[in-house]
Amino acid sequence: MKRILILVALLMAVGLVVAEVPGAVIGQWTQGPLGTILQPAPVAAGEGSTIKIGPLPMYTAELADGEGKELVMGYCSICHSVTYITMQPPLANWKPTMDKMMKTFGAEKFIPPDAAEKILAYLQAHYTPQTRKQ
Ligand code: HEC
Repeated sequence: MKRILILVALLMAVGLVVAEVPGAVIGQWTQGPLGTILQPAPVAAGEGSTIKIGPLPMYTAELADGEGKELVMGYCSICHSVTYITMQPPLANWKPTMDKMMKTFGAEKFIPPDAAEKILAYLQAHYTPQTRKQ
């Protein structure tokens, strides 16, 4: 019983310390060097000020023609633009990235295994340092 009380008191003390760090959001990460994850508060709009909101850029890269292009455009844009493929340096081996998308980010729920194989073949055929043309 005494141990439990000490534990509860300890947890409350930790909670108080965390709650007192300005700008800290309670979660499962460390804050890192002070100031790196903090953003300045937005400047309050003055009286009579106007705010203009424009459309977000909708640029999507044109992928290289070839077998599997439609699969890539269909499946790989479920979560993000296919521009992710072209805006990074070409990869010699796309398998680790495919595995990351499929397993870590959960794309295996949406992309059937045979389509994933064809996508990998397409990326190897068009987006390695040797095969990338544009
Ligand atoms: C289930 C959602 C999902 C799908 C489907 C998906 N991705 Fe991603 N992808 C992500 C996330 C999340 C990131 C990381 C985004 C970030 O860091 O801003 C990412 C990032 C990337 C990156 C940037 C480099 C990197 O390694 O993080 C590439 C390249 C990429 N994806 C390629 C693909 C390809 C090719 C496909 C199609 C097979 C695909 N993605 C399908 C979720 C997905």
